[in-house]
Amino acid sequence: MTPWMRKLHKWVGLIIALQFVLWTGSGLIMSLLDHDAVQGHTHRAHAAHKPPAWPDGLRSPAEVLAGAGRPVQTIDTHWLGDRPMYRLGHMGDVWLASAETGRPVTVSAADVASIAVADYVGDGRPSPPRLLQEATLEARGHAGAIWRVDFSDDDATTLYVSAQDGRILERRNDGWRLFDIVWMLHIMDYVGRQDFNNPLVVMAASGGLWIALSGMWLLVASFRLSEFVPRRWRPQRELTVFDAAGAKLRSVHAHAGDSVYLSLATNGLQLPSNCGGGQSCGLCEVRVRGKAPPPTAADRAHLTESRLKLGYRLACNLPVDADSQVEVAGGAALWTERVAKVASITAITPFLRQIVLEPETALGAEFQPGAYLQIHVPGYTLQRSDIDHPEDHRDDWKALDLPQTLACREPVRRSYSLSMPVEKAGGHITLLARFSPGRQDRKGHPSGKGSTYLYSLKPGDTVRFSGPFGDFALKPGTREKVFIGGGAGMAPLRAMVHARLDHGGSERMHFWYGARNLREAPYIDEMAELAARHPNFTWHLVLSQEAEQGAGLINGLVHEATHDHLLRAHPDLAACEFYLCGPPAMLAATRQLLRTLGVSEEMVAFDDFKI
Ligand SMILES: Cc1cc2nc3c(=O)[nH]c(=O)nc-3n(C[C@H](O)[C@H](O)[C@H](O)COP(=O)(O)OP(=O)(O)OC[C@H]3O[C@@H](n4cnc5c(N)ncnc54)[C@H](O)[C@@H]3O)c2cc1C
Ligand code: FES
Repeated sequence: MTPWMRKLHKWVGLIIALQFVLWTGSGLIMSLLDHDAVQGHTHRAHAAHKPPAWPDGLRSPAEVLAGAGRPVQTIDTHWLGDRPMYRLGHMGDVWLASAETGRPVTVSAADVASIAVADYVGDGRPSPPRLLQEATLEARGHAGAIWRVDFSDDDATTLYVSAQDGRILERRNDGWRLFDIVWMLHIMDYVGRQDFNNPLVVMAASGGLWIALSGMWLLVASFRLSEFVPRRWRPQRELTVFDAAGAKLRSVHAHAGDSVYLSLATNGLQLPSNCGGGQSCGLCEVRVRGKAPPPTAADRAHLTESRLKLGYRLACNLPVDADSQVEVAGGAALWTERVAKVASITAITPFLRQIVLEPETALGAEFQPGAYLQIHVPGYTLQRSDIDHPEDHRDDWKALDLPQTLACREPVRRSYSLSMPVEKAGGHITLLARFSPGRQDRKGHPSGKGSTYLYSLKPGDTVRFSGPFGDFALKPGTREKVFIGGGAGMAPLRAMVHARLDHGGSERMHFWYGARNLREAPYIDEMAELAARHPNFTWHLVLSQEAEQGAGLINGLVHEATHDHLLRAHPDLAACEFYLCGPPAMLAATRQLLRTLGVSEEMVAFDDFKI
């Protein structure tokens, strides 16, 4: 129930959020406004409201009632300015009779002017009274005709005087007008501004209550019961680990409730991870043997539907609740740390660097193109000046807003793909690392921990790593191959192309690579040279930013260019294999394009670096 509850919570929240902002914002404004000023007390002459003593010798109430000539329900004494009156009432109707003559009196403009002036203190000058046949929004709630007098003060004071008995009905000013608008927004009565029970406010309040309750539910659901029990009190479970071929690797003891990722790590089996168990990199997948628990939102975010169906889950999000069995890729690489020396560093483009490592022990056949290593990044503190760059890249680096000190407080691991077949590189590991400069729209934002480390390396330095990992690999056979990439996605695709050509692959191969401009495109000459040497291999550079002219240069987005120049008119797309690697947006657009063209999922292999 939690996934759809989360989705509903999100969408209802989006709708209710605006009203929440209005409720809290208007509530804040109302609480900040001076209550006396809003009520119109600032310009009110309080002395004017002390009635004088009732004079002797006036008509008695009985005489006035007798001469009223119409039914009367109520009668009381009243002052119209400085004139004594009786105020009579019947069925909501009110009228005045002079206490001196007993005759009916109507409230004139002159009466209103003197009443308004007597009620007011301040430097504003009154306007001539205006008789309104019915009350406006400012004097809502009062029936019948009403007099209005405006004062020319800074608060734009307005007095509303009853046309029936000359009483001051309302004192309004700009403070009140602002209050009235936020009050309207607060109670959501956009017409009458006084109905607190209108359907809109009832709906929004019910939605708000639902958001609060479902939020509490989601909060509770995000905990596991075992999290409330200290680890040492939790029962032990047995977690058995198999390799992808089904051979048993190890059995480890785990505390019930711990994640598979944590249980394996505490027993020396480190699953690949870029996020340290944070459910954000998607690298720690394992296959549950037996019945897998329902996938969580994090599983769905990183694993394809077909892998979820096969029982794959993120190990960092998979609790060991009972004795369990999982299959992992990687085998001994999970508990073996290797050591290598930096053999050479080459700046290929300003922010793509080739790093060649010479491993202490020879690498096995499992180090295949498409595989990635986990580089063990130690904690470090570096100065910005520790990152070298060639002179012709100086301006690119100068333009970066990097903090003076670059630090990684705790060891982390980061993944980097082989960018050249190991055998072709004389047993060396060749990586192509892109520098992650951090958010350049934020002052002093830290650069990426792993890439900063790699960019600080010098020949002769020692690097620790584990691997190889991953299932991005060339498929056996001689189907036509289309490689589509961008950014650091060049690394595994380059290794694959070299491997295939070196092994005498004679099938048609196309490499479409997207970069922003020529300066950011790596290995252009190398690819052009391969294309010149191998008639079955073609290389196409697509530039999105600049309309640079040159042989074989195409402008646009790489997936669109591949579509327009190759896929659209291809006679047998179903027979092609696709290998994709590049920035997430490029990857998503290319996969979508291939789906639209009807290319089956099995023919598309991709690696998502998430950068
Ligand atoms: C299977 C696989 C293969 C890969 N192969 C390659 C490869 O061949 N070449 C390659 O270059 N990359 C590759 N990557 C990507 C690589 O593993 C790293 O993810 C990448 O180098 C960025 O790591 P980082 O440590 O430099 O940045 P991180 O420290 O992980 O930071 C990631 C981003 O967040 C920014 N950031 C840093 N600190 C903060 C903060 N406090 N708040 C918010 N944002 C922050 C960083 O600037 C960076 O842009 C691969 C990834 C995978 C999954
Ligand atoms: S460790 Fe990154 S998603 Fe599990």
